Amino acid sequence: MDISSWQTPLSYIGLATLAYTTFKFTRSATTFLLPSSLNTYNRTKNNWAFVTGASDGIGFGFSEELCARGFNVILHGRNRTKLETRAAELRTQFPTRQVAIVVRDVVGLTVDVDEITVEVRAILEAQGGELSVLINNVGGEVRPYTVLSDLSFENVERTIAMNAGFITQITRVLLPVLEAGGGGLVLNISSVSSVGMPYISVYASTKGFVDTFTKALEAECKAEKRKVEVLGLRVGQVRTAGFDVQAGLFVPDARTLASAGLNRVGCGRVIVWAYFWHWLQGLSVDLLPRSMLMMISSKKLMALKKEEEEKAKKR
Ligand SMILES: NC(=O)c1ccc[n+]([C@@H]2O[C@H](COP(=O)([O-])OP(=O)(O)OC[C@H]3O[C@@H](n4cnc5c(N)ncnc54)[C@H](OP(=O)(O)O)[C@@H]3O)[C@@H](O)[C@H]2O)c1
Repeated sequence: MDISSWQTPLSYIGLATLAYTTFKFTRSATTFLLPSSLNTYNRTKNNWAFVTGASDGIGFGFSEELCARGFNVILHGRNRTKLETRAAELRTQFPTRQVAIVVRDVVGLTVDVDEITVEVRAILEAQGGELSVLINNVGGEVRPYTVLSDLSFENVERTIAMNAGFITQITRVLLPVLEAGGGGLVLNISSVSSVGMPYISVYASTKGFVDTFTKALEAECKAEKRKVEVLGLRVGQVRTAGFDVQAGLFVPDARTLASAGLNRVGCGRVIVWAYFWHWLQGLSVDLLPRSMLMMISSKKLMALKKEEEEKAKKR
């Protein structure tokens, strides 16, 4: 066989692969250089953002950052007292902004979720302004670092409701309110785990749902020429109430993450890393073979599972 006859086509394939990888890398890196278009959603300088799971963690970080950037906020959560305390904190920190609350447990949701539209419209009518931003943040894993067969029926149902059920229902009911104000932004919080990570299989799968929901809704809004921008934010480790780890360069606090996420608005892509240092870490997700990525992830998550089991024994 004459190998030299293969050399030219192989070099073309090699060059094309290199060009494609360079293009993909440069395109995703440039999202961190583009200016945010978030301000276009505060046309009246009295616009509102609705943040789900806003009584703590990343949701509260988004609420603070939105107030700092001139928005009024509606905080959603399940605990009225905690939400009222958080609302008071924001009013003290940002005296020129308005803050309201909506209480709903996302687990055991009924058709009553439709009533949120009525509550939001009443807030807008009483306090003035339009709703133009929806941050779908609520989420989490009820029993992390557990194998699927050790989870109860209720564990699974709660995790699905928190991460997949509510985002779908709240977006369905609030889209018309966003459009009534002349268009808006839907920002969905996803996770690096959506690649399919072990020991958090239900959570990881629901984040896969968030990614697909984001892509499908974005395409649907475009096809229907609806004035709604849909953006998914992929997030790595963040120090929050729900994830108590040491903060650092690769583990930002909630507000730093929220600020980075809002800076990605208008980048023209459907799902992006919110935070530069997570993006850098995330290159391994794109570049490593899945088998190697899963070997590393499994080791790390298995260690966390052991840690959880030790803690449970001591309780
Ligand atoms: N932290 C991370 O490292 C990380 C990484 C990747 C992705 N994310 C994603 O970021 C989002 C926020 O995570 P986080 O770490 O900030 O979580 P967190 O600190 O646990 O806060 C979760 C928020 O959701 C609320 N919430 C929980 N269960 C609820 C329910 N049944 N009904 C209504 N509200 C409920 C909580 O209310 P209470 O105050 O009443 O508990 C709280 O406000 C999630 O979607 C998560 O998957 C986080």
